[in-house]
Amino acid sequence: TSTHLGGLKESLRSPGSPWPAELIVLGPGGSARQEVLRKIQELSDSVHRDPFMVADLDMLASRHATFRQALPRVWPFYAVKCNSSPWVLRVLAALGTGFDCASQVELEQVLSLGVAPSRIIFANPCKASAHIQYAARRGVKLLTFDSEEELTKVAKHHPEARLVLRILAEDSKSRFPLNTKFGASLEACGHLLTRARDLGLAVVGVSFHVGSDAQAIADCRRVFEMGCGAGHHMSLLDLRGGFPGVFEEMASVINAALAQDFPEDTGVEVIAEPGRFYMASVCTAAVNIIGKKAVLGPGGHRRLLYYLNEGQYGSFRIFLREPTPRTPIVVKEFLSEPHLFPCTLYGPTCDAFDRLSLEEVWLPELDVGDWLIFPSVGAYTCSMSSTFNGFPPAYVCYATVRQLRSLLEMAP
Ligand SMILES: Cc1ncc(COP(=O)(O)O)c(C=O)c1O
Repeated sequence: TSTHLGGLKESLRSPGSPWPAELIVLGPGGSARQEVLRKIQELSDSVHRDPFMVADLDMLASRHATFRQALPRVWPFYAVKCNSSPWVLRVLAALGTGFDCASQVELEQVLSLGVAPSRIIFANPCKASAHIQYAARRGVKLLTFDSEEELTKVAKHHPEARLVLRILAEDSKSRFPLNTKFGASLEACGHLLTRARDLGLAVVGVSFHVGSDAQAIADCRRVFEMGCGAGHHMSLLDLRGGFPGVFEEMASVINAALAQDFPEDTGVEVIAEPGRFYMASVCTAAVNIIGKKAVLGPGGHRRLLYYLNEGQYGSFRIFLREPTPRTPIVVKEFLSEPHLFPCTLYGPTCDAFDRLSLEEVWLPELDVGDWLIFPSVGAYTCSMSSTFNGFPPAYVCYATVRQLRSLLEMAP
């Protein structure tokens, strides 16, 4: 059941601004989940039941507070790729985070908010020359690299850059192992640091994926020593992203490793590039069942196929990379505990691979027109969605129970 909160809609868009027009300020005691239920009720009188998301901007502010409290020495440079919604970037700019950008468009997006170039790291180790030139023109100096070719491009297009060497870390435990694509081995670092010096480039720090192995902070110290030996002034340690759900445990490992290998009196600045930690829990999606089939599986057992209006080519592309399938919350009242069936959830496109997971999930018998809710879909969802087969991206509305206006007006 949903409660009508009488959400006050208020426009914060200034002329010519690309930001969405509306921020929904919820009434006292309201929550984003209740707003989702309210919208479902609103749409349920109509045949138009397009998928939508509610983003809880207060949750975003609270994730920032949690991050800062657990890792007081680490300044977050939010990974824009994770969710580049203008409201999200606007709130983070107001909270004072830095930004990790991977392309010219992401740089443009963040700079257009008035964020100082010194608050940005261009953290893609393999950049197009034109994007490097753009960074140079706009004064974005912090750039990552992991190869000699990249150094040659930077020497030509951005000689004033402050470079961060991305090293390989053991990431077999990581959910998205990146080892084969990016990162210099410890053996290659010595040569790269000398090559940078010979090209007249300044290397200022080291970056590695803390999500893979926090212990690798000790490897970074070795690379710092190599860098100093090659004549660089090493002053920045970048822990990148991959902060997991069990964050507190990881934070204490990181804090202990920092205290041992980079004590505060070294003056080394420590940054990170968290994405999913900030965004995952911010968004809740509501999707509608647009088709249904019942089939008999092995042993004559009933299985259900539900066709949803959101899928792999929309906001749920990331689901297929996850270790376990997501079971949605069913928005339907049953008189008694319903029987559950193994169900396959398909997306709306004509592609046979457009399904939410390879495994089945257990759900009750539902009908066309029923709603499902997926919580914690703020990370790598909207930013990875496409319009394949003519399905537009899910509408997102931004909700806050706190009045963010004054914070946003002060930003950045
Ligand atoms: C360079 C870099 N920084 C930060 C991130 C963000 O990682 P996460 O969203 O897991 O925190 C990624 C993820 O791909 C990355 O490649």
